[in-house]
Amino acid sequence: MSSSASPRILNVDKIRKDFPILETSKNGKRLVYLDSAASSQRPDSVLEAMDDYYHTTHANVHRGVYSIAENATALYEKARVKAGKLINAPKPSKEIVFTKNATEAINLVAKTWGLVNLGESDVILTTKMEHHANLVPWLMLKEQTGCRISYLEIDSNGELILDDIESKFDGVKLLAITMASNVLGTIPPVKYLTEMAHKNGALVLADAAQFVPHRQCDVSDLDVDFLAFTGHKVMGPTGIGVLYGKEELLDAMPPFLGGGEMILDVTLEGFKTNEIPWKFEAGTPPIAEAVGLGAGIDYLTAIGYGAIGEHERGLLDYCSNSLKTTFGEKITLYGPKETTKRTGLISFSFETVHPHDVAQILDDHNICVRAGHHCAKPLMYRLGLSATTRVSFSIYNDTHDIDALIIGLVQVVEMLG
Ligand code: ALA
Repeated sequence: MSSSASPRILNVDKIRKDFPILETSKNGKRLVYLDSAASSQRPDSVLEAMDDYYHTTHANVHRGVYSIAENATALYEKARVKAGKLINAPKPSKEIVFTKNATEAINLVAKTWGLVNLGESDVILTTKMEHHANLVPWLMLKEQTGCRISYLEIDSNGELILDDIESKFDGVKLLAITMASNVLGTIPPVKYLTEMAHKNGALVLADAAQFVPHRQCDVSDLDVDFLAFTGHKVMGPTGIGVLYGKEELLDAMPPFLGGGEMILDVTLEGFKTNEIPWKFEAGTPPIAEAVGLGAGIDYLTAIGYGAIGEHERGLLDYCSNSLKTTFGEKITLYGPKETTKRTGLISFSFETVHPHDVAQILDDHNICVRAGHHCAKPLMYRLGLSATTRVSFSIYNDTHDIDALIIGLVQVVEMLG
């Protein structure tokens, strides 16, 4: 396969040098990392920022009056503002809550706003393409409150069916929707659906875990009420996630976890909660992780979403064409055919080879892909599948990675197909 079709939007050779793990090899084979939807790799600048923080600045935040504690607090709060600016939050210092990950951010809303605001007559509207993180918290809430959950269906192109959409909002208090499917790559029309939700008196929570790494996310323009994403998919470390919530909503919500930091006063009889966002950040927060996330955001924004999107669309085209040309009828690709309607990942299956076998044989080539249900079992049931193989791209991938994938898959099909 020729690499002349290589998209040249980004200087991938230069970018790859920033990611030390991509220099590693196994049995003489370089690492081909095609699983960034599960977790991106991180550049040296992130590792150095965290290392530097621990070497020079570490102390607990919002407590000490000595210099390094004040510096640590300043770095932590600066990271909050960076996370807020990344998604154009109007008031980053109040409306951004740090959590452990996107899952915890969604659980926070379910267990605070949800418990207080939902009852038996209320409906949560979501979709059949959600990750478990944006489904199980609502199923738990259903058990606790008796509320109902209804689902937007998908069509054969992997897009939401929006016929008669207005009627779907009857009784709905919350629309909980992905901004990009982690299996199909589909980007639903969240702005349109948010307008519709608001018109019908419902709030909107957007799961942007698979969107923020790939496309400019603007909460002011979307007007969503809550939005969650995670650090480890945007070049940052694991252990830190982000919840955006509109100030008046966060203000009115009860706290999530109890402990230090989230209080203004405590007596033996009760407590007074802290102001937002600290009301939701009980205990010592992920300080080094916030510093790393800030550096990851700096790296991503220096490259720019315009270039990232264009680069990924080039890889999507190249990969889907290569898969179809090489395997023809033997392979099925899932998700929207138009690359403009999706993010940089492709799920596929072979009729005769199980996705786990595909992933295992590719590992012999030092190629990392994800196989399984991708934490989206209801979507798998809807597609009539138990698993797919998924490849997902980032700024450090190029057509050589896809060529290596195709060579590995040819061997898979020769062995097992
Ligand atoms: N949600 C992540 C994925 O899709 C872990 O792989």
